[in-house]
Parts: sequence; C-alpha cells; structure tokens
Amino acid sequence: MYAYLALVDLARAYHHEHGIPDAVSWVTLADLGRNLAIDRRMRGEGWPIMQSWLTLHVRGSVYELGRLQHQRGDGAIGLHVPDSGPLTPESVAASLDEARAFFPRHFPDERYPAFSCASWLLDPQLREYLPEDSNIVRFQRMFELEPYREDDGPNGDVEVLRFGFRTLSTPLDELPRRTALQRAIIDHLRAGGHWHWRHGRFPI
Ligand SMILES: CC(C)(COP(=O)(O)OP(=O)(O)OC[C@H]1O[C@@H](n2cnc3c(N)ncnc32)[C@H](O)[C@@H]1OP(=O)(O)O)[C@@H](O)C(=O)NCCC(=O)NCCS
Repeated sequence: MYAYLALVDLARAYHHEHGIPDAVSWVTLADLGRNLAIDRRMRGEGWPIMQSWLTLHVRGSVYELGRLQHQRGDGAIGLHVPDSGPLTPESVAASLDEARAFFPRHFPDERYPAFSCASWLLDPQLREYLPEDSNIVRFQRMFELEPYREDDGPNGDVEVLRFGFRTLSTPLDELPRRTALQRAIIDHLRAGGHWHWRHGRFPI
C-alpha cells in the first residue's frame, strides 16, 4: 500500500504529460482503495494478484473510462471489468466509445486495431447456465474467442471463486447459492466440470 501511495505523484505527473483529465486520473488510481476493500473481504487471500494488477495503474498502462478499465497493450486495448455494479450493454458501449476517442487523443503515437479481454467472464460454458439476456452473456457475444489453451492464463476454477464468491478457500458445500452465477459455478464444479480462462477480441 505504501509503495503504491509513494508512486501516486509520479503516476500523476505521467498522466499530466499525456493530458489525461484529472477525473480520469483519480478514478483510475482509486482502484487501489477498491482492491483494498475487496482484499479485506477476502481476508488477505486476494493480495498476491492484486499486488501485480495494481502496478499497471501506476505505470500509466490502465485507464478507467466509465464502466471498464482499458489497458494499453500489444496490438490491442485490453478490457478489464472492475467490481462496480452491473455490466449493462449500454455502460459497456459508452466506455468503448470513450476509449475510441481517448487513446488517439492522449497516446497519438500508438495504434490499437482491436479490443481484447482475457477472463473467466468469456467462458462460453456460462451460457449453459445463465439466461441469454444476462449481462455476462451479452458481453461475451461481442468477442471472437481464441482457441482454449489450458496453460494460457490463470486457473479458471480458482478465478470463478475469486470473482463469484470472493473466497479461494471456502469448501464448495459452504458457499452461498444466492445468485444464478453462484449456483452455476458450484453445480458445474460438483459435476466434475472445470471453468476456463478465455481470451477474445473484436475490432475497434
Ligand atoms: C462482471 C459483473 C459486473 C457481471 O455482473 P452482472 O451485470 O450482474 O451480470 P449478469 O447480468 O450476467 O448476472 C447473471 C446472474 O449472475 C449473478 N452474478 C453476476 N456476477 C456475479 C458475481 N460476481 N458474484 C455473484 N453473482 C453474480 C447475477 O446476480 C445474476 O444472478 P441473479 O439473476 O440470480 O441475480 C460481475 O460479475 C462482477 O462485478 N464481477 C467482478 C469483477 C470481475 O469479475 N471482473 C473480471 C475479472 S477477470
């Protein structure tokens, strides 16, 4: 935490050099507090991944534009979904539009032909459990998926527990079954299935 706080002035100076509006700068850096709160809910279990994720913000790689966080990547803008309410198609579309204007304006030397995403959210197996009009399924439909490779990303079974329950260590039969996603995650694992971390992209 202290290391990140010590880097705020440097990150702010970098944002300033690129003409990033103050509001974008602060809302982006405020992900530190959001992640700290999540880590408290997870009783410290989430910290190792958060620690590396948060380096992107202070290096000027990630910008939060409306509903999504956008990462300057290799040949694509990487999309990240913060834990900040429902992922409505309207909020996603507005965020993508913001990014289409933001990156050419603030990083004119960089070219991004595509948006990309890597997430448990893109696992098509979710469609066997969630309604077609759920926000996650509608988000999935925007992407063309790359073929699944087991070694290409974190373990999907661990990530669905992280994002669907905010625990990594609670036994399956003690997890809550409050939402359609929670029931899907538990039932799929109980039936011997596995969740997959998938990569996808679509043209800007
Ligand atoms: C991505 C996210 C905003 C989608 O939520 P949403 O807009 O409600 O999604 P949907 O409309 O598809 O939800 C379908 C069902 O799953 C439930 N659900 C969705 N995300 C959930 C989550 N993270 N935990 C528990 N239940 C969830 C919904 O409540 C709904 O169930 P219900 O009809 O029984 O209420 C949400 O999952 C979230 O905040 N995730 C944390 C961040 C994250 O996972 N980022 C990606 C990291 S790689």
